[in-house]
Amino acid sequence: MQITALRTQLKKLLKINEYDPKKAYLLIPGMVSRSERKNLAKQASKLTGRGHVLEFGAFFGASTAAILCGLKQNGLTKEFHVFDYFKTNDQWFSDITRQLAKSHESLLSFDGEWLDFSGVYHYFINDPVVHTHKILISDLEWKNEPIEFIHLDLPKDWSQAGKIASETFPWIIKDAKLIFQDFVNQWSFEIGAMIGFLLKERLISVDGSFGSTLSTSANEKFGMDSLQSLITEMSDKTKVLTNFDYAFEHTRNFLNQEEQTILRVGRAVLISESDKVQGLKELSRAIDHMPSTNGRGSKALKNALEFGLQAKKSVSD
Ligand SMILES: C[S@@+](CC[C@H](N)C(=O)[O-])C[C@H]1O[C@@H](n2cnc3c(N)ncnc32)[C@H](O)[C@@H]1O
Repeated sequence: MQITALRTQLKKLLKINEYDPKKAYLLIPGMVSRSERKNLAKQASKLTGRGHVLEFGAFFGASTAAILCGLKQNGLTKEFHVFDYFKTNDQWFSDITRQLAKSHESLLSFDGEWLDFSGVYHYFINDPVVHTHKILISDLEWKNEPIEFIHLDLPKDWSQAGKIASETFPWIIKDAKLIFQDFVNQWSFEIGAMIGFLLKERLISVDGSFGSTLSTSANEKFGMDSLQSLITEMSDKTKVLTNFDYAFEHTRNFLNQEEQTILRVGRAVLISESDKVQGLKELSRAIDHMPSTNGRGSKALKNALEFGLQAKKSVSD
C-alpha cells in the first residue's frame, strides 16, 4: 500500500466521530498507556447510567476516547463531562505537548507564552455526547447530580485534588468507578494519601492497577462527613503519611517490585518535606528494594538518585 493511502487510513481511524470497534482510541497520542486506556474502556462499559461520567485531565483526548468507547458499548444514558484548561505556559509541558502533537502541529495555537492544544483535542473528540469544559480546575463547579464514574488524571497534589473532591465526592454513588492516575508515581504521594484515606474508611475497593493507575469502585455513597474528614486529614502531615502507608499496604498485592519501589521513593519524598535527613534515609531504604530492571523501576531509580543528590545538597547547604 502506498504511503499516502496508509496515511489516509490512519487519519480515518483517528477520527472518533462514532464508536470505533477497531479501538482507535489506542492510536491517539497521549500520556496514558495502552493498558490504562483498555481499563478505562472496560470500566466505562460496565456503567448503569445512574450517574454522570466525569473526566479531569483529557490533554489530546486519548483517555476521553477510551471512556467514550466503553460508554458507546453499553449505551450511554447520562452525560459525559470533560474538564481541562487545554493550554499551558509551562516550558516542560509545552515541550512534551509539541513532541506528542507531531503531525498535528498546525492544530496548536500560541498566545504569548501560552500554548493552546484544544485544537488537537477537538480534532480527535467531536462527539456530541461529550460536554467539554475548558476551565482552570480552581474554577470547577459541579451541578450537584449523581456521579457514576470519575477519571482523575489532572491533579498531582492535594491543592488540585482537594478542589475536585470538594465539588464531586458528595455526589459519588455506590458502585461508581473511580480511576486514579498517578497513584504509582514518586511525585504524587498526596494522591496516594487521599486513596489511603478512602481505603481506610472502606469507601472504595481496589479493582486493579494498570501502569500508574489505581482502578477502584465505591463501596457506598460518599457523604459530606467523609469529605470533611478527608479534608481535615489531608491538612495534617502525620495523617498524610499514615494514609499513604495504608494505601501502600493495601495495594501491595496489585503492584510489582518496580511499582513498589516507585511508591517507596514517593514516601521518601513525602518524609523529606518535613525532615530532609530522614527523607534521605528512607530513600536509601527504597533503593535497597530496587530490583535490577530496565523497566519503569529504573526510571524511578534515576529520579530517586536525582532527588537524593538534591536532598543531600540542601542538607549540606
Ligand atoms: C496528564 S495530562 C492528561 C492526559 C490525558 N488523560 C491523556 O489521555 O493523555 C493532565 C492534563 O491536566 C490538565 N491540567 C493540569 N493542571 C490543570 C489545571 N490547574 N486546570 C485545568 N487543567 C489542568 C492539563 O492541561 C493536561 O491536559
